[in-house]
Amino acid sequence: MQSYSKSLRLQGKRIAFVPTMGYFHEGHLSLMKEAKKMAGCVVVSIYVNPAQFGPKEDFSKYPRDLERDLKMAESVKVDVIFYPPDDEIYPADYQTYVDVEKVTQNLCGISRPGHFCGVTTICLKLFNIVKPHIAIFGKKDFQQYISIKRMVDDLNLDLQIIGLTTVREPDGLAMSSRNKYLKENERSSALTLFVSLKLAQKLYSGGERKASTIINEVKKLIKKADYTDIDYVKICETNTLNDVNEIKSQSVIALAVKVGKTRLIDNHVFGEKLKV
Ligand code: PAF
Repeated sequence: MQSYSKSLRLQGKRIAFVPTMGYFHEGHLSLMKEAKKMAGCVVVSIYVNPAQFGPKEDFSKYPRDLERDLKMAESVKVDVIFYPPDDEIYPADYQTYVDVEKVTQNLCGISRPGHFCGVTTICLKLFNIVKPHIAIFGKKDFQQYISIKRMVDDLNLDLQIIGLTTVREPDGLAMSSRNKYLKENERSSALTLFVSLKLAQKLYSGGERKASTIINEVKKLIKKADYTDIDYVKICETNTLNDVNEIKSQSVIALAVKVGKTRLIDNHVFGEKLKV
């Protein structure tokens, strides 16, 4: 992959990169389609990165289907699929990790210690292998997007990070490979995440700026739905991801909720369109 990327660069080709863990859905495809518009060569990696899963998390049962992914990627004319084996990414004597200190602490950083260190480490490794000019991420994983941008700025990496709007199911549920885990009777409860983001935006549009008021209303709504167990509902400043009391600058409401056994996340930047 590294020498292929070198040769593409020598030919003056622009490389757009979409890192993924596979099990594609429309959200992934929209990142790939966007990548296609931005560069002559689109590289998509498929790698379920063990370093970003905690010991009690779903690494071994994370959905995988390479054949299906290859067909889907082909349908949007992806040029290269990079599918590295574990022992090439993390050989036996592997010992180097990159840690973004502050923006990784709040939100998912609290309930998933070490997760973002695993994410930034694999992304840095993949950037060094794929050598992209542009890398594209979905903003459903808002904290991931901010952490990667921070790493790229802090380490002077020569690539542009682009974040794209969350792709949703027709009813509003954010697309995620983990939606596959939802049982039939949990699916409507999962929709509460989107409905509660709409409520938050409505309160904001009505002039509410007190974070605790919005958070309490959102929590009340989520608790009403069956099978839900809130990990967090927080309102943070978008660059620092620090909690805010009053919404004064650009802020995001971010949620993590377990629906049955499935942990789902979603978010909304106040004032932006919350579209399906
Ligand atoms: O968002 C994901 O799928 C993963 O966290 C990523 C960015 C591919 C790193 O493993």
